[in-house]
Amino acid sequence: MRLTRRVSVAVAAVAALLAATTACSSDGGGTTAPKDVEVFTWWADGGEKAGLDGLVSQFGTDCANFTFVNGAVAGGAGANAKQVLASRLAQGDPPDTFQAHAGAELNDYIAAGQIEDLSAQYQEWGLTNAFPKGLIDNLTVDGKIYSVPANIHRANVLWGNKAVLASAGITQDATSLDAFFADLEKLKAKGVTPLALGRDWTQLMLFESVLISDLGAAKFTGLWNGGTKWDSADVTKAITDYQKLLTYTNTDRDTFDWTDAEKLIMDGKGGYQLMGDWEAADLDAKKFTGYSYSVFPGNGNTFQWLADSFVLPKGAPNPEGTKCWLKTVGSAAGQQAFNTKKGSIPARTDAAASAFPAYQQAAIADWKSQAQVPSCAHGSACSQGFQGALNSAMGKFSSDGNATALQAALVAAASQFAK
Ligand code: GAL
Repeated sequence: MRLTRRVSVAVAAVAALLAATTACSSDGGGTTAPKDVEVFTWWADGGEKAGLDGLVSQFGTDCANFTFVNGAVAGGAGANAKQVLASRLAQGDPPDTFQAHAGAELNDYIAAGQIEDLSAQYQEWGLTNAFPKGLIDNLTVDGKIYSVPANIHRANVLWGNKAVLASAGITQDATSLDAFFADLEKLKAKGVTPLALGRDWTQLMLFESVLISDLGAAKFTGLWNGGTKWDSADVTKAITDYQKLLTYTNTDRDTFDWTDAEKLIMDGKGGYQLMGDWEAADLDAKKFTGYSYSVFPGNGNTFQWLADSFVLPKGAPNPEGTKCWLKTVGSAAGQQAFNTKKGSIPARTDAAASAFPAYQQAAIADWKSQAQVPSCAHGSACSQGFQGALNSAMGKFSSDGNATALQAALVAAASQFAK
């Protein structure tokens, strides 16, 4: 059948209208309101997806008038998602909501005028006293609050394969860098990768953990606000220790995401891996039970934190649907549904620890009692510009091993971005 151009344009217009109305609901007054809520994350697989699914199921109960649309872009730490998001925001095509880390990363979006003030919703939903004051401060700029936190993750955790460690004679995780080096030697003698590692941002995480060991919590925090100098002897020592650690890692690290390094542990080909506690959820989702966990050697009572939060972008197609999503994210039920599967702990202070798996119960106790420091690899400590500069410095060091050049790059990045 041949249609005239005018008829085919009309057919296309009717089809578009039909498609649009399936995504809308009538409010009875003849107008339609959008139903779809596009939630943009990088939680596409394993434990991350399981956490998101928990939240989506609660959203289905709380917000039955709306439909969740999964806008996830795979890639650990948002390595791909953040680029896609930046270009969508630049083109005026925001999703209905996206994940952003509390702290400096969130401030970037606020400064760029890309997200809405949610202070009124905090009042309306009774959220103002639901979260710890320090976290609220990290979400607030000039007295306005811009996002709803879903969780608290811990970054400085060392995961191990218990059977591999036992075969190397390691029965207890090290508590100092020196003892750790001795254990890595034992693993090397067994012919496994002693310390599994991935690409740039995972290298930055490992380096941050070494900095915490060598500088301590207070000086480490000063690295991000200009209080601690990056050209100091402490930082030089941390670079030396980090360089030594790299000799125990897989040489193909630059091609690995965090889940590839995790697979070395699961397959019994690796001993240890430094990674955030989304690894607990991911190992559980993948049904690997033989893992150990402890704080990174030498970090003592320091809890390196980050928090995922959700925002209402300016120009979001469905702000009412987004608000319903945000209300679920901030609710006690939403936080439980999400965090039991995500490896993180609730940002809310009223959650019952007993409802969580053993790992999170320990993390809930540590979060309350330990010294809290932020993470640059996950945006609580540093802006996206600072993070990008450090990621590329780490990636470069991974291939050229030039310690002097690394420290110079760190100093240059801090002079441009630390505040
Ligand atoms: C972090 C994020 C976590 C987890 C991790 C690995 O940036 O906060 O929730 O998803 O990346 O992808």
